[in-house]
Amino acid sequence: MRTIDWVDGAIELIDQTRLPGECVMLRIHTVDELIDAIRRLAVRGAPALGVAGALGVALAGEDPGAIARLRAARPTAVNLAWGVDQAAARLPEGPRAVLDAALRIRDDDIAACVAMGERGADLLDGDRLRIMTVCNSGGLAAVERGTALGVVQTLHERGRLAEVLALETRPLLQGARLTTWELARMGAPHRLVTDSAGPYLLAKGGIDAVLIGADRIAANGDTANKIGSYALALGAERAGVPFIVVAPETTIDPATPSGEHIHIEDRGGDEVVSLGGVRVAPEGTEALNPAFDVTPHDLITAIVTDRRVIRP
Ligand code: MRU
Repeated sequence: MRTIDWVDGAIELIDQTRLPGECVMLRIHTVDELIDAIRRLAVRGAPALGVAGALGVALAGEDPGAIARLRAARPTAVNLAWGVDQAAARLPEGPRAVLDAALRIRDDDIAACVAMGERGADLLDGDRLRIMTVCNSGGLAAVERGTALGVVQTLHERGRLAEVLALETRPLLQGARLTTWELARMGAPHRLVTDSAGPYLLAKGGIDAVLIGADRIAANGDTANKIGSYALALGAERAGVPFIVVAPETTIDPATPSGEHIHIEDRGGDEVVSLGGVRVAPEGTEALNPAFDVTPHDLITAIVTDRRVIRP
């Protein structure tokens, strides 16, 4: 099953807001529907956003306003703007060329995730690995296989995975809802832990590596990923556990010199004061909600891409 694809003249994608309860496909016919799906995280994860952006240009046609709005639908993952730009560059050649470019990005993502899975699994030593991860970097964040969770899948297929500890990922629970769903479908042993348990469990020992995806990797290796990644990196450094970023080359943004230049999405306080639609904080409580954080490059053991291993 593909997370996102082009089927009979429209975008089809899994509505990730409905998981794990039900796996429902959305058919998207307009750019505005796609922007709405991106903003409410029906489709999410950097590589999937790259494909969505490119396919979205095929829906937008020659409407520069629609293309600009799509490009800005979410700010942090560079893949969205990159995918839009790649497809939009082909507009002068006509709609078939735009769609071909978008389908090429889809196909390249599938191949890149296979390559990252193999390279990441080769990089890790040991036969009974316990891996910690945050958010969802699996097939749901890409097209077929994922990035960091793609490495987990390869380890599992090679019989080298003992267990995954998945952080729940407040406030939208991508770890609790999506990563566990994917790991269960893989048949991979896993347990869910609260976000705040991450650094403590690393300090306690017995975890072989932290594997995370990335939304944007600056030229100096500073990496934006889901909020909570930085705390895990600090905990991993203190515990002497390798902290590995797995992302396609398309997530590296040479135009952004360092992490302080990365635009971190602020999703507003409503997602924090409520949980699953139920208010958990008193009326009137204000909240901060940065959706991502930046891990400085010196805390990153390695960045595994579809082409290489970078040691920042
Ligand atoms: O807000 P999200 O769910 O789009 O955040 C996703 C992440 O932070 C992922 O870790 C990242 O996009 C890499 S996915 C392969």
